[in-house]
Amino acid sequence: MTMHDPIPSPDKPSGTPSLIERASEMYDFRKSLNQAGPDLPPAEEPDTDAAKAPAPGMAPPVPPAAAASAAPMARPVAPVRPRSTSSLPVAVIDRDVLRERAFIVPDGPVTSISEEFRIVKRRLLASIRAEANAGLGAAAQRILICSAQPNEGKTYSAINLALSIATEQDHDVLLVDADFAKPSILSSLGIEGQRGLMDALADPDVAVEDCIIPTDIRGLSVLPAGRQTNTDSEYLASVRTRDVLARLTDGRPGRIVIFDSPPLLAASPAATLAQHVGHALMVVRADVTSERALRDALGLIAGCNQIQLLLNGTRFSPSGRSFGSYYGYGE
Ligand SMILES: Nc1ncnc2c1ncn2[C@@H]1O[C@H](COP(=O)(O)OP(=O)(O)O)[C@@H](O)[C@H]1O
Ligand SMILES: [Mg+2]
Repeated sequence: MTMHDPIPSPDKPSGTPSLIERASEMYDFRKSLNQAGPDLPPAEEPDTDAAKAPAPGMAPPVPPAAAASAAPMARPVAPVRPRSTSSLPVAVIDRDVLRERAFIVPDGPVTSISEEFRIVKRRLLASIRAEANAGLGAAAQRILICSAQPNEGKTYSAINLALSIATEQDHDVLLVDADFAKPSILSSLGIEGQRGLMDALADPDVAVEDCIIPTDIRGLSVLPAGRQTNTDSEYLASVRTRDVLARLTDGRPGRIVIFDSPPLLAASPAATLAQHVGHALMVVRADVTSERALRDALGLIAGCNQIQLLLNGTRFSPSGRSFGSYYGYGE
């Protein structure tokens, strides 16, 4: 591993554009979005100072006006986390497994990965506050992690973001595996589960709360994908989905729900889920994701309120900062 420069604080961005801003330039992000569909509002110039100076690690959201806002949430944030209502036993997550797989280790040392995701998290939480204030409702509390193709780092990013948000005092995280065909959240975390989101969608007798697995990481619980079916998209598109998803945040204004999803260009659940979330984080794998694939993928989630790019695994940072470059830190 090479030496890397310190990571600038999100409050004090350096003069160098962030990696994600570079991604926006590289992929001509706005142009792609403007071509994505007739329903998308035209790109506007940011009208707040915060929107003019996006934090390192995140592209300006689209539309930008609802970006970082220091205003308090309209709904009160729960000062104390409500106790889990799930009757399932607490799953113990092996910290060595997290370390081996380059995930953030709770109460572990500060690493480049944890710092990168801290920056991403700050930006997202500001965006969530703004959307809650704008009256978006429960959708403001939901984040979809998506990408065009397999192996671009969706699951990797979803888990690290969840682990990062779980450390927040005012929030808890529910990490949902919505990659129904190839679920990997449980195996990545080294835990076991049975029923999950698809069971609750397919069977009205299954309460989705009963499928949530509490973990021994404070503030983190997991909802497995559940049963495999050839009609996952149809279940997801049904009216019942709205009710099932609403139950995930019912009475929990501080909860953030993160959905890991299948590739947009390979399966339809991510595009369907995009209609239920306030934020979509599009993972772009440096040197792998083509501009064409990114543009097509963006077109499939164009209706989502806030879309942000997350550049994963880049090798072209002049400062050495990137998600991927520290994979295997400690070498
Ligand atoms: N930044 C990264 N650096 C190194 N390896 C990564 C990085 N992001 C993801 N990976 C690895 O690449 C593989 C594919 O990532 P994954 O998150 O499973 O992709 P997806 O969910 O998009 O299919 C996994 O083995 C994961 O650990
Ligand atoms: Mg995955």
